[in-house]
Amino acid sequence: MEIRKVCVLGAGIMGAGIAQALAEAGYSVSLRDIEDRFVRAGLDGIKKNLDRAVSKGKMDRNTADAVIQRIKGTVDLKQAAADADLVIEAVIENMDVKKTVFRELDELCPPQTIFASNTSGLSITEMASVTRRPQKVIGMHFFNPVPVMKLVELIRGFLTDDETFESAKAVVEAVGKIPVEVKEAPGFAVNRILCPMVNEAIFVYSEGIASAEDIDRAMTLGANHPIGPLALADMVGLDTLLFVLEGLHRELGEAKYRPAPLLRKMVRAGYLGRKSGKGFYEYAK
Ligand code: 3HC
Repeated sequence: MEIRKVCVLGAGIMGAGIAQALAEAGYSVSLRDIEDRFVRAGLDGIKKNLDRAVSKGKMDRNTADAVIQRIKGTVDLKQAAADADLVIEAVIENMDVKKTVFRELDELCPPQTIFASNTSGLSITEMASVTRRPQKVIGMHFFNPVPVMKLVELIRGFLTDDETFESAKAVVEAVGKIPVEVKEAPGFAVNRILCPMVNEAIFVYSEGIASAEDIDRAMTLGANHPIGPLALADMVGLDTLLFVLEGLHRELGEAKYRPAPLLRKMVRAGYLGRKSGKGFYEYAK
C-alpha cells in the first residue's frame, strides 16, 4: 500500500522530529496534539531546525518553506487522522493513553489505514488488541534527535501482517533512515541494551566511583560513544529512562534491570535532564 499522507499524534520532541523527517521526504503531514500551545511549540521547533539547516547552507530557503507548508498543525483528531494512510502515535508513554488513542483512531479511520506506535518499548500487540485491525498495527521506533539519528526499529506485533511491515519499511527508507526488524519484546533491541548501560553509569556515579564528567569522558574516549551515558540520560529524559527500565524490570523480572535509586530520586525531584534544565548537568533554559 502506498503511503502519501501521514498523521503524527503528539507534537513533542519525538513527534515533531518525525513530522519534520516525513515532510522533508515529501509526505503531506498532519501534526496533532491535545492543546494549541503544544502544536505551536512543535511547529516552532521544526522551523528552528529548518532555519538552522538554511543558515548552514544545507537546505535552500524555498525547500525549507515547502517542508513547513507540508505540515499542518491541529488539535482536531478527526481532521488530522481521517484521511491519513498512516498514523504514527508519539503521545506519552502510557499504555492506557495509547489504547484510548488507538480506539478513537479505529472509529475515525478507514480499515486500510496503518497505525504505528513510536513507543520506546511497550507491547504493540496490546495496543493492537483494542482495534479491529490488529494486523495493520506496527511499531516504528525512532531515535532522539530524530532529524539526525538514522535508525528506526520496526516492531512486529503478534498479528502484524507482511503488507503492513513492507509499507512501514518503505516509509522509513523514503525518509532516508535505516530500518531493523525486531520481534516484540520489552525495550525491543536498542533500549534493552542501551538503557541498562546508562543505568549502570548512574550506579557508578551514585557509588562515587567517578564524577559525572569523568564517567562521560571515559565512555566517549574509552568506548568511542558520541556522548557519555549521563549526558545521554539528560538528552533522552530521566523520566523516559526510568519508565523504560521499570518496564524491563517488571516484564523480564531480573535484578539487572533494577533502576538505580538515584535515578528515581532525581525524577521525583523534577530533575528530568535537558527538558527541565537540570539533570546530571545544568542547561540554560
Ligand atoms: N535536531 C536537529 N539536529 C540536531 C539536533 C537536534 N535536536 N541535535 C544535533 N543536531 C545536529 C546538529 O545541527 C549538527 O548538524 P551538522 O553536522 O549539520 O552541523 C549535528 O547534529 C551534530 O551536532 P553537534 O555538533 O551540535 O553535537 P554532537 O556532535 O554532540 O552531535 C548528536 C549531537 C548527534 C545528538 C550526538 O551527541 C549523538 O549522537 N548523541 C547520541 C544520541 C543517541 O544515542 N540517541 C539515542 C537515544 S535513545 C532513544 O532515542 C530511544 C528512546 O526510546 C529512549
